[in-house]
Amino acid sequence: MKRILAWLVLGGVIGVISVRDSARAADKDDSDIGDIMQKLHNKKKGIHPALGKALKGDVNWAEVEAPAKEYLKLAEKLETTKAEMGPKESWTKLTKLYTADAKILAEGATKKDAELAKKGFAGLNKSCQECHDTHR
Ligand code: HEC
Repeated sequence: MKRILAWLVLGGVIGVISVRDSARAADKDDSDIGDIMQKLHNKKKGIHPALGKALKGDVNWAEVEAPAKEYLKLAEKLETTKAEMGPKESWTKLTKLYTADAKILAEGATKKDAELAKKGFAGLNKSCQECHDTHR
């Protein structure tokens, strides 16, 4: 009987720990941000560097349209995250700007309008430093 009781207590303790851990994981919006950054900006596999190549010179539209849409989706997702560092107002402002540029890029991609797509991409290209300085 004593042994069963001990197991029950132990089970309860483990249960409490795992509930607390998953609650903490749900709080951690920051991991989402790193994840989005990886998908977009990983040097080898990221959407952003690949788009940079496809948009250079004569645009390779076959490699622009789908990634540009994905870019916009990820930018919109970034807007819903909470920054772990830096002021909230700044995060709201910078992620909105980021999404606005991603929209220009996506619109250019849909219309196959090179000037528009490149304009959006140039805006995204300039966004990194200010945001990293404040929020990373
Ligand atoms: C709106 C804010 C914002 C913009 C714009 C932004 N970043 Fe980030 N970036 C972050 C934050 C915050 C982190 C830290 C995430 C973390 O540590 O979880 C980060 C992390 C990263 C990382 C590391 C990812 C990892 O594994 O944790 C890379 C690479 C990166 N950014 C590249 C870029 C590049 C390149 C640009 C511009 C073309 C850019 N970022 C634009 C906010 C931004």
